[in-house]
Amino acid sequence: MPKALLFKSKDDGHWSDLPEGDFPDEPVTLRVSHSALNYKDALALTGRSPILRKFPVVPGVDMVGTVLSDRSGTFLPGEKVIATGWSIGEVHWGAFAEIARLKPEWLVRLPEGLSEVEAMATGTAGFTAMLAVQALEAFGIRPGEGPVLVTGATGGVGGHAVALLAKAGFEVVAATGRPAEGDYLRDLGASAILDRAELEGDPRPLGKERWRAAIDVAGGKILANVVSMLQRRGAVAVTGLAQSMDLPASVAPLILRGVSLLGIDSVMSPQVERFRAWERLARDLDREHLAAMMHLHPFEDVQDLASPLLDQQLKGRVVLHW
Ligand SMILES: NC(=O)c1ccc[n+]([C@@H]2O[C@H](COP(=O)([O-])OP(=O)(O)OC[C@H]3O[C@@H](n4cnc5c(N)ncnc54)[C@H](OP(=O)(O)O)[C@@H]3O)[C@@H](O)[C@H]2O)c1
Repeated sequence: MPKALLFKSKDDGHWSDLPEGDFPDEPVTLRVSHSALNYKDALALTGRSPILRKFPVVPGVDMVGTVLSDRSGTFLPGEKVIATGWSIGEVHWGAFAEIARLKPEWLVRLPEGLSEVEAMATGTAGFTAMLAVQALEAFGIRPGEGPVLVTGATGGVGGHAVALLAKAGFEVVAATGRPAEGDYLRDLGASAILDRAELEGDPRPLGKERWRAAIDVAGGKILANVVSMLQRRGAVAVTGLAQSMDLPASVAPLILRGVSLLGIDSVMSPQVERFRAWERLARDLDREHLAAMMHLHPFEDVQDLASPLLDQQLKGRVVLHW
């Protein structure tokens, strides 16, 4: 019987051997090879936020694995696929199990040239960072126009954002609460490091214009400060709430400098956007950066890693393997 981390309520999650018949009745059965621990997974596992919204449920937002069978006829047995988002690991049974049952439209074929481990070192974090980079590019932000700020740079989304922006030719400023990780962030492609404390004070309506654009994972005062310091016609891709869900900002930068907020939602990202982003990730990801960002752990350790991730004791990406 496959092992799964089953939550019967938000505080009652245990590894057990489950009969296959207990898994959801969806067309694709997948043997899960790897997963990852995202910020959202850590919130779910610790019960610090109501991420798990239907019980019983298996958490785990990201997975890669091999198709065992597909009643819909979309995939052949043996094909390798990635699943992220679509409320998998929140409402639908997720990745922290030896098998998963999923809808075919939730799956993306593993791009050629990307290994299963690399796919999970990327996962929702890398995918979200890529959506943010593409949103800035679509808005019209170009390399050579000025520095681009990334907040939460030692984290999963932030680290990928630093590396992907640098790869695309942007000058990247990495904001972090851990300035001691400066060498790590410079290796990923940052040309300057900013102490997060500079972004944590009470935001002014308009600050000195410092950055052409930004990718923010923090929300709260940090995002409000970033918005107040963007250059005229700048934009910030808003991805997260690691500091706060609030946005205590003034409209002044929006109406006096034409600054824009670009919202990034990876969970319900349509298929076509997913294919485009994963193809570019497979092409643009620096494999050495991926290796530097990644920490491999067995699946069974995932609950012990959740609090350290939320308490900022981990950096980069936690990849889980059997
Ligand atoms: N929009 C989407 O579709 C989407 C997708 C993925 C993730 N997210 C969200 O994006 C955020 C980051 O996710 P992740 O997986 O990258 O998490 P992560 O790996 O834990 O990284 C978060 C980083 O944010 C910084 N941080 C943590 N707590 C903070 C605080 N209280 N105040 C300010 N900065 C703080 C830390 O970086 P430093 O120490 O370097 O400052 C930390 O490494 C989360 O809120 C997550 O829910 C959204």
